[in-house]
Amino acid sequence: MKFIEQLLLQNRAWVEQKGIEDPEFFNRLSEVQTPKFLWIGCSDSRVPANDITGTNPGEIFVHRNIANMVVHTDMSMLSVLDYAVNVLEVRHVIVCGHYGCGGIRAAMGHKQFGLIDNWIRHIKDVYRIHEDELKLIPEGRERENRFTEINVVEQVFDLVETSIIQNAWAKRQLPFVHGWVYDIHNGLIKCLKVTMNDNAQLPEVYRFNPPSQVDEVQTRPGH
Ligand code: CO
Repeated sequence: MKFIEQLLLQNRAWVEQKGIEDPEFFNRLSEVQTPKFLWIGCSDSRVPANDITGTNPGEIFVHRNIANMVVHTDMSMLSVLDYAVNVLEVRHVIVCGHYGCGGIRAAMGHKQFGLIDNWIRHIKDVYRIHEDELKLIPEGRERENRFTEINVVEQVFDLVETSIIQNAWAKRQLPFVHGWVYDIHNGLIKCLKVTMNDNAQLPEVYRFNPPSQVDEVQTRPGH
């Protein structure tokens, strides 16, 4: 029990400290949240979005899962994305992976971990697509790090292939979508320079027409 009680004690200390630094902090945040960023990151306890970017509560809207994946049928991710882009109108969406990711490591191996293997399958799919390039890199940390980067780039593309992002671009040329990797060894973030705010780089099959060009709604057959 003492570990959990420790958290509550530390919460009291944090509230006190915040009050000293900025007496209006809680008053201001209790009214409304206006974050400029959506963060899609790994669940790993070593990669907390606010801490590593030096931001406060209220500044980053966050979705985290194992290995920062953008899975098209993930209702939780899609709901967070739609709300962030269309209601909060964030200006930036960041997919942030990290070196030393257990999900990435599991995807490159053959060991079973249970239910999670079915989630890891999505990461294995990314590996298969880039297998030729990855096999040229010596096995071990170097190959793992490169795969971590490749996976982030893939997730950025998965993200911008959604109608949510493409419709937002058609409407307001925002958000910018970024791919980053966090280094757990030194705390630094590396930008992978795949930032996009239009669909020019998308393979043609993924490009949507702007919503205004959507065909007239068909009447239901028999009506
Ligand atoms: Co991870």
